[in-house]
Amino acid sequence: MCGIIGYIGERQVLPVLLEGLRRLEYRGYDSAGVVFLEDGKINIIKVKGRVFDLEEKIFSELPKNPKSPGLGHTRWATHGEPSDENAHPHFDCKEMLAVVHNGIIENYYELKKELQERGHKFNSATDTEVIVHLVEDFINQGLDLKIAFFSALKRLKGAYAIGLISKENPEFIMVARNLSPVVIGLGEGENFLASDIPALLPFTKKVLFLNDGEVAILSKDKVEIFDLEGNRVKRDPVIITWDLASAEKGGFPHFLLKEIYEQPEAIKHTLLGRVDLDKRDIDFSKEGLEKEFLEDVEKIFIVACGTSYHAGLVAKYLIENNLKIPVEVDLASEFRYRSPLINSKTLFIAVSQSGETADTLAGLRLAKKMGAKILSICNVLGSTIARESEVVLYTQAGPEISVASTKAFVTQVLIFILFTLYLKKLFYKENEKREKLEALIKLPSVLEKFTKEVHSEVKKIAKKWYNVGNCLYLGRNILYPIALEGALKLKEISYIHAEGYAAGEMKHGPIALIEEDFPTVILAAKETGIIYEKTLSNAEEVKSRRGPIIAFVSENSEEFKKLSDDFVGIPLTFYEFLPIFYVIPLQLFAYEMAVLRGCDVDKPRNLAKSVTVE
Ligand code: G6P
Repeated sequence: MCGIIGYIGERQVLPVLLEGLRRLEYRGYDSAGVVFLEDGKINIIKVKGRVFDLEEKIFSELPKNPKSPGLGHTRWATHGEPSDENAHPHFDCKEMLAVVHNGIIENYYELKKELQERGHKFNSATDTEVIVHLVEDFINQGLDLKIAFFSALKRLKGAYAIGLISKENPEFIMVARNLSPVVIGLGEGENFLASDIPALLPFTKKVLFLNDGEVAILSKDKVEIFDLEGNRVKRDPVIITWDLASAEKGGFPHFLLKEIYEQPEAIKHTLLGRVDLDKRDIDFSKEGLEKEFLEDVEKIFIVACGTSYHAGLVAKYLIENNLKIPVEVDLASEFRYRSPLINSKTLFIAVSQSGETADTLAGLRLAKKMGAKILSICNVLGSTIARESEVVLYTQAGPEISVASTKAFVTQVLIFILFTLYLKKLFYKENEKREKLEALIKLPSVLEKFTKEVHSEVKKIAKKWYNVGNCLYLGRNILYPIALEGALKLKEISYIHAEGYAAGEMKHGPIALIEEDFPTVILAAKETGIIYEKTLSNAEEVKSRRGPIIAFVSENSEEFKKLSDDFVGIPLTFYEFLPIFYVIPLQLFAYEMAVLRGCDVDKPRNLAKSVTVE
């Protein structure tokens, strides 16, 4: 996720910016840059690479008299590959203004077209650059900087944390927030802004948090906050007592937990620009997924590894149920060494958080050679798998730091939900029901509440079970892949042996293991009708052999409440969203078990975040 630092005051500006950027490195990034005043002009220095590379570049250019205000940025690419040009900050046409941004401007495409028609010249492929040209455009129309900034914000749709400085008005920094975090650091005769607290800790512990739809104007001696209409907003400062390590994790004890809690936001960002509630429409055409590309597809192959493979398994249910196209889901390491039947009417979908997994990449290359159309679902822009695909649908989960994947998984599932609904519209002219789209838009807020509530329940249950040696996870239909994912999470981070199984297959083997100290986690959703009934029968089979049951089941299931030793109720939802609702408590369960066992949750032994060797 991009990181922002800004400074206005009497200190040497570059050391402040660089120190701030170093403190934001943990967020993940691919390029870095700074902007500051120098002898009456604005100077931008930026580079693809690390903060260290930026320092080298600054050192080689040796700016003469760098002064505040200044802004620094670490970029995690979302629009436009990682490159020097796409790195922030960005100038307007006349190099009077410079901007840094974290987030996604949903309507950048339309705005860019409009601004280009009015003569604005763009130097990057980013969505960010429209912000600075838009402000410039309002200034060209005679507005002063502050009014121009507010006017530009009103035209932006999407998520943003913005910092903007002007050569003409060096006495202040303009800041804005919508859906992306901004925190303002307060000093004596100096002020700071950052996207996250760690960047401020070396300088101040006194901070102000901006809310969505607010603007701040930072000068040396004061910070003023406004709403978008220009009304003043009062905000009391907060004193931060966190140390650096917990600040990086946003106050959470581990990145894994932070990332589980970030899932609602990741979903919100992944929906941006793709779902239009008014038109009851889902759109991927701007990303190159058009009818012509898909028209003659007769079969879909989904290929991935690890957690991403489980997202592929979920997709099989979604696509076959809704689109009646046969889907094969393969582990990439198997796919590449068998003889898959592929031709030009095959759509090959690679799913990968990192976009660098060796087996998935090899599978993609094989499918390409055999003439398949290549689509990928990736989280890292410009990664090898993304570059080698004809169409890429990005999960906007932001960088995942913990080795075990969580927010990447839920956004992969979300992309498959959107993909299915989009194809339904393209080929069957079926626009989705308004209620379902409304529920989709509300997912982030519903999940935010659900995550908090279910966490405290799961924590209690983990205390009871964390000493077990084995655990079986059962599910059917669309919850079968979630049973696999739940078991994978548990074994990855707590080192408890766990197996995921299709509940109906239990009698063909695992039932032999059932005994009093061997818990079975059972997933069942009333929304699945007969499948729910069948899973209930499987649960009875476990119980009659004295096996303890931990049920993650629809909250209104009286049957499971009676039958299970521990019961976690899951809210009722649409069939398509079940995997997302059911995986969250399983992630939390694995997390709590691992913490109680004293495991290294973020870096489990022997595992790698990105497996770039076969
Ligand atoms: C490793 C990671 C997993 C991940 C898998 C696939 O095993 O530890 O969390 O699911 O690779 O990675 P990808 O980046 O291709 O999704």
